[in-house]
Amino acid sequence: MQFSGPLAVLTALLVAFPGLIVAASTELYGDIENSEYGDFESLSQTRERQQHLCHREVPTVFFQTEKDSPVRGNGSTIYYHRIEVCCVGYRRDVYSKDCVPDCSESSPDNCRNGFCRSPGNCECFAEFVRNEYGACIHTCPIACQNGRCYLNGTCACHQGFVLDQDTRQFCRPQCSQSCGTHEECVAPGQCDCSPGYRRTADLGCQPVCAPDCGFGKCVAPNQCECFAGFIKRPNRNVCEAECYLNCENGFCESRYKCHCREGYRYNENTTSCLPECTDNCGQGNGVCIAPGVCRCFGGYEAHGADCRPKCERSCGKYGRCVAPEICGCGQGQQHCRNGSCDDVEHCSCPAGETHFIDRCLKPEHLSQQLYTSEKRKHFNRQLAYEFNALIGRLFDF
Ligand SMILES: *[C@@H]1O[C@H](CO)[C@@H](O)[C@H](O)[C@H]1NC(C)=O
Ligand SMILES: *[C@@H]1O[C@H](CO)[C@@H](O)[C@H](O)[C@H]1NC(C)=O
Ligand SMILES: *[C@@H]1O[C@H](CO)[C@@H](O)[C@H](O)[C@H]1NC(C)=O
Ligand SMILES: *[C@@H]1O[C@H](CO)[C@@H](O)[C@H](O)[C@H]1NC(C)=O
Repeated sequence: MQFSGPLAVLTALLVAFPGLIVAASTELYGDIENSEYGDFESLSQTRERQQHLCHREVPTVFFQTEKDSPVRGNGSTIYYHRIEVCCVGYRRDVYSKDCVPDCSESSPDNCRNGFCRSPGNCECFAEFVRNEYGACIHTCPIACQNGRCYLNGTCACHQGFVLDQDTRQFCRPQCSQSCGTHEECVAPGQCDCSPGYRRTADLGCQPVCAPDCGFGKCVAPNQCECFAGFIKRPNRNVCEAECYLNCENGFCESRYKCHCREGYRYNENTTSCLPECTDNCGQGNGVCIAPGVCRCFGGYEAHGADCRPKCERSCGKYGRCVAPEICGCGQGQQHCRNGSCDDVEHCSCPAGETHFIDRCLKPEHLSQQLYTSEKRKHFNRQLAYEFNALIGRLFDF
């Protein structure tokens, strides 16, 4: 059992949320995408789009965009949203938004110069041929890989390369000695591990399973064989104990214990492992969407791995931004909304505005401030806060 396997980099893309720091990221819960289809579409279009659509439960924390307004999920519990995603082997087309077959696993450039007919099945266009890595490359008379084209249309290999036996349309590197187990010839006279295998100190090239197999053995690339008594749940490739937990991004050690992958921490509400970030994102100012990667809430911006409140105007030499659009002046942190701090205790307002308790206001808006009971409550709280801040400033030395 490996505990610290590499974090799996799956093909899932996190699709643009407003304010998203990263566009692409490591896998967490598959596509998180707000599919917003137009109101008008024909029935046949609808049917077309419903093909290859699957449902998936995604922790609702990933949908929260504003601080202090948690999202209530519509999934199996309030901690999950049930969303539509493309089924395994399909991906969302950027333009049409349809779910189309995905060839990115089997073709390094996702079947460029070819047609991805079904998941992992890339058919090259005429005048292209699949090379040893699955990419569609030109054939003669345009070009041939590691060789050049004769006028009569055949491919002549450069020194150190031989013609591919099956297609006779491109050249592969030649190794004089035969390569070892799970190895292949990657350059003239040079063997290396085959794709999906990694060199180990004592066992040569060994298959890689990502995420690691849990209670199992990696027998081929991404193929786990479970130890006796352990199982694989549907659509998961990790061997674990039978359990009652979701345990995403981890595996069950026993009925009630989930072992999280590195970079993830167990969360009671979702009974799954959620990505971990540093304090200011993990506990308040943003959502941790992948290990060490925050998406900040509205009014906050990223500072390295942290999310900090954003103040449109400068808070001045003696102030700092303590909450979105709120400067705190001096040590007592007197609040100063829409103003800046011109000395330790003073909230200075833009020309034509007056300082009122915790904010700067145009004089004509002053009287409106106490109209609603909500606002009166706010100012009562704020006055108490200011009073304490003042007491602190006067007596706390
Ligand atoms: C649940 O909410 C998500 C996010 O708002 C939405 O995309 C999805 O369609 C909803 N699912 C159901 C089953 O209502
Ligand atoms: C094409 O031309 C090359 C070089 O002239 C020759 O060696 C080769 O046999 C020719 N192939 C065919 C199929 O005519
Ligand atoms: C679980 O959800 C509640 C709200 O329903 C929230 O207050 C609490 O912080 C959550 N706990 C964790 C560990 O996320
Ligand atoms: C003051 O700040 C609020 C947001 O806190 C903003 O809506 C408003 O436009 C600002 N007023 C001025 C005069 O800048």
